[in-house]
Amino acid sequence: MSRAPELRIYPHSDEVARGAAALFISVGGEAIRARGSMFVALSGGSTPKLFHAALTGADYAAQLDWQRVSFFFGDERAVPPDHAESNYGMAKATLFQPLGIKPEQVYRIQGEELPEVAARHYEEELRRILGTGGLSWPSLDLVLLGMGEDGHTASLFPDTPAVQEQTRWVTTSVSPQGVRQRISLTLGVLNHADVVVFLVTGRNKARTVKAILEPAAGDTRVLPAALVRPVKGRLMWLLDDAAASELTVARQSRSSREE
Ligand code: 6PG
Repeated sequence: MSRAPELRIYPHSDEVARGAAALFISVGGEAIRARGSMFVALSGGSTPKLFHAALTGADYAAQLDWQRVSFFFGDERAVPPDHAESNYGMAKATLFQPLGIKPEQVYRIQGEELPEVAARHYEEELRRILGTGGLSWPSLDLVLLGMGEDGHTASLFPDTPAVQEQTRWVTTSVSPQGVRQRISLTLGVLNHADVVVFLVTGRNKARTVKAILEPAAGDTRVLPAALVRPVKGRLMWLLDDAAASELTVARQSRSSREE
């Protein structure tokens, strides 16, 4: 039985970013103390840019032994790494370069390959690094996710076969907009992470946030982000007031900057 999601609501998106940075440092520090390393899967899209800026800023960058962090990706568009739409390219510019992360610490999805080949190669790499002992699912220390207005997360889009995948760790998918061909971690991987954190900001996401966190009776839609319920791990939603504006709970709980 998965635990209830932990909700943290901040007045503005820059505070969500700082809250996420503080959380990253906390989870990473704990993982490094316990096992000498941190395995994290990054999210794509635009929301993480503010988070990366906070994490690489003076308040947080010095608080983690970055050489002990291995970076993975929740998903990738089927584009080369230097393409404007590449999630790896965004992370390289906004996180890896500012922190001096060595290339050998980063495990990117090779978007330049055929999607099915890229998915297969990435799964082989994940199994080589994370799957020692023949695990059916790997256990990442931290997975960062965003959410689209349609309720997609990573590259798991509503009513697509990728959402139904029960055994593969990495699969291909098709986006209804933008770069169509995608490669994505599957729900099994997301739901076996120790900590899963959604970063969602903006009024345009509020209705979907409500549908996921306070579903209306009779709402039979299957929103992929609602299927992210870690089996044993923590699930956290970090929202700004705008994204939380349709939640009843929003008016009762506010996270302060310090949390
Ligand atoms: C991607 C992401 C995707 C993203 C959402 C939200 O590759 O685009 O993995 O799931 O998190 O689409 O994107 P924004 O942060 O740009 O709103």
